[in-house]
Amino acid sequence: MQGGLEGKCAVVTGAARGIGAAVAKRLVSEGAEVLLTDIDIRQGQLTAAAIGKGASFAQVDAADAASVSASIEDLVGRTGRIDILVNNAGIPGGALFDEVTLEFWDRVLRVNLDSVFFGCKAAIPHMLRQGAGAIVNLGSISGLGGDHMNSAYNAAKAGVINFTRSLAMDYARAGIRINAICPGPVRTEINARPLAIPSVVDAWLEAIPLGRLAEPEEIAGLVAFLVSDDASFIVGAAIPIDGGMTAGAGQPDFARLLRELRQPSQ
Ligand SMILES: NC(=O)c1ccc[n+]([C@@H]2O[C@H](COP(=O)([O-])OP(=O)(O)OC[C@H]3O[C@@H](n4cnc5c(N)ncnc54)[C@H](O)[C@@H]3O)[C@@H](O)[C@H]2O)c1
Repeated sequence: MQGGLEGKCAVVTGAARGIGAAVAKRLVSEGAEVLLTDIDIRQGQLTAAAIGKGASFAQVDAADAASVSASIEDLVGRTGRIDILVNNAGIPGGALFDEVTLEFWDRVLRVNLDSVFFGCKAAIPHMLRQGAGAIVNLGSISGLGGDHMNSAYNAAKAGVINFTRSLAMDYARAGIRINAICPGPVRTEINARPLAIPSVVDAWLEAIPLGRLAEPEEIAGLVAFLVSDDASFIVGAAIPIDGGMTAGAGQPDFARLLRELRQPSQ
């Protein structure tokens, strides 16, 4: 798709790789000028260079309020505006609860939740001045329900979702649309450890009705839609994009069991 975001200025956090990189690429392909930010300077520069015209990179720690604010002020100083903010930076938070220290908990909430607060704090005054803006926050299906061994991440992503709803209500009449998306498992580095364990991959494939993980580009498509004028009536939503994973109630696949029962015995 081309051209839907012509003239728009965007910031995507955590954009060096994975979902953020795919989102940045997609927004540029639709005509936006995108500032990619990330702590990973080397990969961030490579990704921005690979996207080419319309993409630039700044090293920013999304967990540091001053650094986030400086990057947004810099973009607005250069371009005069910020139309789109995608709060995407995140880290995994899986650990047995007996091993979750306060330091670990603070870090997971800082990078996954406080970062969204910092981004919104910095961007919204400019969007208010413009009378328009669109923000997409990366929630997760792990913010819609609990996972085993994921207490800090579950808390952070649930926080992102309800924070999104609250801000969306506050700013809808000012022309700022704020939404969250809730991906299921996506084939990115954040999942490097579970993806290396065949039994975990099998369990995911079993649990996802579509029978596969998402690719980052599929998540980018939803973000591009949500920041476009086609999504003009979508406000405060938390949209699952999970191959059907959260559509189920956790029951066994009775159709498969029935097929197995009906198979003639060897
Ligand atoms: N991949 C999935 O299965 C999945 C599912 C649901 C939600 N999400 C969320 O999507 C977002 C992107 O995840 P991903 O799968 O692309 O992961 P990823 O690990 O591939 O990419 C995350 C990016 O964020 C950057 N980052 C980490 N800490 C940062 C910080 N403090 N400041 C700036 N940048 C930082 C990393 O350097 C990396 O480039 C995260 O918020 C994640 O929680 C991912």
